[in-house]
Amino acid sequence: MRVLLTGGSGFIGSHIALLLLEKGYDVLIIDSFVNSSPNAIKAIKNYLDDKNLNYNLKTINCDIRDKQLLGKIFIDSAKEFNPIQTVIHLAGLKSVSESFINPLLYWDVNVCGTENLLATMNENECYSIVFSSSATIYGLTDSIPITEDHKISPINPYGKTKVAIENMFYDLYRSNISSWKICSLRYFNPAGAHPSGFIGEDPVGIPNNLFPYITQVASGRRKFVNVFGDDWETNDGSGVRDYIHIMDLSEGHIRALDFLCSNKSCLEFVNLGSGKGYSVFQIISQFEQSTGSQIPFSIQSRRDGDLAKSYADISKAKNLLGWAPKRSLEQICLDGWKWQRKNPNGYT
Ligand code: UFG
Repeated sequence: MRVLLTGGSGFIGSHIALLLLEKGYDVLIIDSFVNSSPNAIKAIKNYLDDKNLNYNLKTINCDIRDKQLLGKIFIDSAKEFNPIQTVIHLAGLKSVSESFINPLLYWDVNVCGTENLLATMNENECYSIVFSSSATIYGLTDSIPITEDHKISPINPYGKTKVAIENMFYDLYRSNISSWKICSLRYFNPAGAHPSGFIGEDPVGIPNNLFPYITQVASGRRKFVNVFGDDWETNDGSGVRDYIHIMDLSEGHIRALDFLCSNKSCLEFVNLGSGKGYSVFQIISQFEQSTGSQIPFSIQSRRDGDLAKSYADISKAKNLLGWAPKRSLEQICLDGWKWQRKNPNGYT
């Protein structure tokens, strides 16, 4: 079965691609490479070649806002008698801070890009999509752990674009209830790397997220971690988040795909997290303990758009998709560190 994977060379996309290929799916990656490296695709191929696995992978440089090229990709696949049967849609911009500075770009890439993709799918009668949504859509949390029916009130433009896309799904589904199969996965904080160390997270420039920042401090690329606030209403004053191993997150996508394949039509919104909350200080100390590295830190003021606590209720993913995370926080630290040590400068 041919799967179109948008944003397939990014951190999350490359891990999903590898898993899909190992499971025998035919994978067509499209990526604009604005925030990712084509070397991620090479690394996937190296890993599979190393294992002597046969695979079907094609990559096209395509921005999801390019409707003409998107259309051509669907038509060409059909002409090859290998039509795109389902889409995993990850392509989009994802920096909360950048979304405050350039909100229109976020609306353009994330919302208009997704509208283009959905319109192209509709025209080509491809009605199955797994989407990368985000826990950021919940905004200020009034109850923890967060269930899928928690109030939606994003506090940053990035989150608002994810909500707009989920709203688009509602309307599209209602317009053609017998055809569409949609599963929107609301990620918490993906971290770690493939256990082989072949692929991992390689943020462009200074990492926004805690985990890649810590691994870059451990490898000597940065001096210390800035801890954004030690005065939050949490046990130790630092922010609490739900860190999910990238391999668990990737497996969640395969489960979602299987779920869509075995269902007639549906629209589901599902949290993907570990279901546990850890503070910034706990993460730093777990990383030090697991890897033997020293992680100096410096307390800074709170970061705009941050929250005290966010972690998921993952019962819906367990009940609906039959999925549960299998890897510990220690595994996240070990695998993330393995990738960083093997590739101190990422893919470059
Ligand atoms: N933090 C630091 N120092 C850093 C980076 C982060 O102290 O250098 C803190 C933050 O204040 C927060 C925690 O570490 O308390 C996690 O921050 P991240 O930036 O790693 O992750 P966020 O929870 O802010 O956001 C991430 C993704 C978003 C997504 C969200 C969903 O970046 O795209 O998870 O929960 F929407």
